[in-house]
Amino acid sequence: MNKMDRAREILKKYNQTHIKNLNEELVEQILKIDFEQLQELYAEANSSEPIENDIKNIEPVKAINPDKISKEELENYIKMGEDKVREGRYAVAIMAGGQGTRLSHNGPKGTFMLTLNSEEKSLFQVIVEKLKSAQKQYNVTLPCYIMTSPENNDETVSFFEKNNYFGYPKEYIKFFKQEEQPLLDKQGKVLIDENGLIKFASDGNGGIFFSMAKNGIINDMKKRNIEWVFIGSVDNLLVKYVDTLLLGLAIEKNVKIATRTIIKNSPYERVGVLCKRNGKVKVIEYTEIPKKMRFAVDETGEMVYGESHIMCNLFNIEAIEKASTKELKYHIAVKKSKYMNEEGKVVEPTEENCYKFEKFIFDSFCLFDEIAILRGKREEDFAPIKNEKGIDSPETAKKMYEEYIAKKV
Ligand code: UTP
Repeated sequence: MNKMDRAREILKKYNQTHIKNLNEELVEQILKIDFEQLQELYAEANSSEPIENDIKNIEPVKAINPDKISKEELENYIKMGEDKVREGRYAVAIMAGGQGTRLSHNGPKGTFMLTLNSEEKSLFQVIVEKLKSAQKQYNVTLPCYIMTSPENNDETVSFFEKNNYFGYPKEYIKFFKQEEQPLLDKQGKVLIDENGLIKFASDGNGGIFFSMAKNGIINDMKKRNIEWVFIGSVDNLLVKYVDTLLLGLAIEKNVKIATRTIIKNSPYERVGVLCKRNGKVKVIEYTEIPKKMRFAVDETGEMVYGESHIMCNLFNIEAIEKASTKELKYHIAVKKSKYMNEEGKVVEPTEENCYKFEKFIFDSFCLFDEIAILRGKREEDFAPIKNEKGIDSPETAKKMYEEYIAKKV
């Protein structure tokens, strides 16, 4: 059977016969898609069990609060971390494959420009400058792996080329693409884009482990003798990419994963929170948290489930390898997305019209019995750029960043 006939058969089998005008490119797309998995995900979208039903198996987690440990102990952790960095056993990975839909920036999010202390810089430059400062401080060049998406990869690479890698040695920066999943409409049909092709979206930041393995990144890390990798987001101006305290803590506690958190500013803040489910650390997204957990406070008035995940995660190479061989669960988001209808007309929906399937990096936490949780501080660790205006916008992040720098100097 030729490819075209095979594609037709698949469309029929999986009830996707709204796709009619097959061409070579479309056929290749169809043959690559795992429709069996898509069908299961669609079924799940309509039947997933709310966390609420499992609340009896959920308990709070304890984070280590640096304000409550002695100065000597803290210095000891930092020294352990610094020694590892100096030995060249540390690398960083930037998750830059997101679509940045809320920011409405035309281009990869890392290319977004800001004026910080009167200097115009992109988000990528801010991160590379942190690596350059570590290079000076520890006399070592840290490898930097950048996860892009099939959609934004070329633009990201040419941005670095154009900017001469911001003065960082080019051979220490490697790009790799993450995977994608098709978008499904509410009836389970794949969405078609304005070019008549199947519409894909990146498969979430949890796709990083699989993509690292697939693209030879784990092998590259091993060749370079890397033991620890900090994986951070592209859009938090305050993220400590070279987090020697978190690293020292992970080494001391003998764990394979460590995460830096902050306390949620109110029960309504749109961040995921940490808890334990069946004894393993888990993050519950703000969209999924039951009311009972959201508003629970302890005897001192502190939120019981306030420890927030801010995408500051440290992984041992063994943890990355393990996660790369496991199928992390897909979460289902309902989104608004432009598409071409069966009459060939492009429709701009006014309401959510499709399902997007995303894996989350924090779902790897449960692969281990214990992870280290370090409580950071909002004003030192978390200045995200999510929205164009208002909360978590370029304006709020810039203010926090400039205040942090002023305090440090
Ligand atoms: P968010 O989940 O906040 O998504 O990403 P986003 O792309 O920045 O913004 P919206 O939701 O579309 O408005 C958190 C981090 O994870 C990365 C992002 O680039 C960001 O650094 N990410 C997200 C990926 O690398 N891949 C993905 O598929 C999703």
